[in-house]
Amino acid sequence: MPDPRLLQTRDLLEQLFRDGTVVARFDGSVRELFPRSIPAEEGEALREWVKREGATLTLETGLGHGISALFICEGLLENGSADARHVVLDPYQVERFLNCGLQIVEDAGLSDLVEFHADPSEIALPRFLAEGRRFDFAFADGNHLFDGIFMDLIFLGRLVRPSGVVVVDDFQMPSVSRAVAFCTTNLGWTVEKAWRGNPHHEWAVLRTPEVPDERNQVHFVEFAGDERAALEYARLEDEFAKYRARKLIRMADRIGAALRGK
Ligand SMILES: C[S@@+](CC[C@H](N)C(=O)[O-])C[C@H]1O[C@@H](n2cnc3c(N)ncnc32)[C@H](O)[C@@H]1O
Repeated sequence: MPDPRLLQTRDLLEQLFRDGTVVARFDGSVRELFPRSIPAEEGEALREWVKREGATLTLETGLGHGISALFICEGLLENGSADARHVVLDPYQVERFLNCGLQIVEDAGLSDLVEFHADPSEIALPRFLAEGRRFDFAFADGNHLFDGIFMDLIFLGRLVRPSGVVVVDDFQMPSVSRAVAFCTTNLGWTVEKAWRGNPHHEWAVLRTPEVPDERNQVHFVEFAGDERAALEYARLEDEFAKYRARKLIRMADRIGAALRGK
């Protein structure tokens, strides 16, 4: 008999994609899920890669609204291991997401499967490494600055089993594509698949090398990001600034209405 949590997770995902919003139990506010959360197509790809890799232990940077976590957990449940666990990191879960990611995980009945840490990845990932933890699969969707995603990839490459899969979100961003370019040119990673064609949202499936890193100390291969992504950069940054401005205006309106006693 299929795990009852599978049905609960699928029903909830269907509802969230239909509504496009979630009501935060934290303060009763209605939150837009998109564009911050991953699209359904990417979620389905995550689920299928978790299944294809036969993963039991998975790791994700950036819980956000928890949409990607639900798809990854769906893959874990379908794999059917009693030891399955999905580890997620998010230092801004309360502050920026009003706990909606954890709320959604709870509503899907997945709280026992998900291990949450409110630490930034640059703190948690080296700690996991020191603790000897290992994972079968990882999804990177946390800090999108070059130094953030670069550090994440370096540590994820050590935490994920050899020849394991790391999926990176927002591959269209020069910061992300450049960090990936270092891994492919210098560390022997390969791009298994990249979803391209949408300048607003792309992602890539990376495979870490089978063999351990044996570079000597003078090894260095020049690497460059994607030229096309670099050209898009200024425009995307501008769009992001406008998105933030719209959000601030909405917040100011809400505060104003509350002060006026509405
Ligand atoms: C785009 S959202 C993730 C969306 C999520 N994948 C989903 O589908 O709902 C990016 C997340 O990364 C988190 N984040 C930012 N910096 C981080 C860091 N240093 N370590 C871990 N997570 C971080 C943010 O708080 C946010 O939750």
